[in-house]
Amino acid sequence: MVFSNNPRFISSHHSCKKAAPHRLRNVSTITIAISLFSLVVLSAISTLDFGSNASKKVTKVRPTIVRPTKWDTFDHYKMRTYFECSKAFESERPWWTDQEWRIVRELYQDLLKSERAGLVRGSTKIGTYRVSDEVFDFSQIVVPYQAGKEKGRGLKAAKDIRKGDMIFKATNNTVVFTDGHSFRKCMFMLNERFPTFACDVLQWAWVQDLEGGAFGIEVDLDDCNLLNSGRQRSVNIQCGKADEICDGNHFYARRDIKKGEEILGSYSEFVSDHSWSELGL
Ligand SMILES: *[C@@H]1O[C@H](CO)[C@@H](O)[C@H](O)[C@H]1NC(C)=O
Repeated sequence: MVFSNNPRFISSHHSCKKAAPHRLRNVSTITIAISLFSLVVLSAISTLDFGSNASKKVTKVRPTIVRPTKWDTFDHYKMRTYFECSKAFESERPWWTDQEWRIVRELYQDLLKSERAGLVRGSTKIGTYRVSDEVFDFSQIVVPYQAGKEKGRGLKAAKDIRKGDMIFKATNNTVVFTDGHSFRKCMFMLNERFPTFACDVLQWAWVQDLEGGAFGIEVDLDDCNLLNSGRQRSVNIQCGKADEICDGNHFYARRDIKKGEEILGSYSEFVSDHSWSELGL
């Protein structure tokens, strides 16, 4: 029985062996078919992908940007150096066009969105906010102009202004950074989009005491940035009305101002520039 079983085993083994090359042939045919099929599918997908990349390129140009190592530790001096700001300020700085301002405000909104997304993941606090929801067009009150070699860009009255009239107030374009790193991110985003613009913002942004002893970096994402500071006697606006406490966000004419006169504030009313380090900058 044992022996008779053996040949059967052998023969079946044999047939198995014989069958093997046949099965292998089958396998390789299937493999080739599958490979060919995947090739077709893959190339179809990659064509699709190229298509969407191409359409993305039309709407949003986002070149690959390599930030310097340890960029996330840069203080405002280091940023100035890295953005080559002294070179940018060698010649007269231009205005930002309405279109540029629009893009910059959109950049800010992108940053705000990414900060909010971070909060959902529990990783960070939101490091920036808009001071107000109010939308206001200042172009009827002040207009940008070149105020001379020393002062650079400035603002002049767009019309005759009466003593006590409102000149500036915080709007939805007035943004505050309570976290130094959010400001840094904003500066790098800006520099990558419009080289030298971050230099302007670094120059315009100021540190302000917020309520409760905290500090924030404040900046207007519109032409209100161009306000120059004057000597005591030439200052023609003031923070808060005559009998009000200065909140740093509302400014009124201190006297009548003629159309075309430069608007001059007093930075010391609202700026704590020694406090950049409080924010790690
Ligand atoms: C303020 O509101 C205007 C009008 O909705 C908008 O165009 C602008 O981008 C807003 N500013 C910021 C900084 O989000």
